[in-house]
Amino acid sequence: MERSLVLIKPDAMQRRLAGAIIIRLEQRGLKLVAIKVLHLDKALARRHYAVHAGKPFFDGLVDYVSSAPIIAIIFEGESAIEVVRETMGATDPAKAEPGTIRGDFGLDIERNTVHGSDSVETAEEEIKLFFSQDEIFNYQNEVDD
Ligand code: RTP
Ligand code: MG
Repeated sequence: MERSLVLIKPDAMQRRLAGAIIIRLEQRGLKLVAIKVLHLDKALARRHYAVHAGKPFFDGLVDYVSSAPIIAIIFEGESAIEVVRETMGATDPAKAEPGTIRGDFGLDIERNTVHGSDSVETAEEEIKLFFSQDEIFNYQNEVDD
């Protein structure tokens, strides 16, 4: 079973889209096992996006993602990484398919509404940045049987 770290970014929080985004991911069959509201400081934002350090958009990205509270969620399920990425759509909302979260709600390549982990390894690292073990829940959904 895979886990993906999802962030509901400041532009979505500002427009009260958190519920709409969570519904879409739950409806893909993903199970919500951890959730919190937090205001990222720049240090955590830099660590979360460390792979992009040095790129031209890095400073803007760090400023943006730490500009207002966000929601961090762990979704669990079969192929959770790919299911989340598919449901989010392409990084640039202008290129994201209609029906995807970014295609429907994204404003521009920076204010693109959601983050989702891009690999199992990245997900494990990202989850450790945002959650302690006792904040992550293990439970069965009866419907899964
Ligand atoms: P995310 O990490 O937020 O889920 O986004 P992603 O995997 O789809 O895209 P990634 O390549 O990891 O880029 C991280 C964030 O950096 C901003 N970005 N700007 N101006 C640009 O060319 C550019 N490229 C990426 C986006 O906000 C993207 O979400
Ligand atoms: Mg990424």
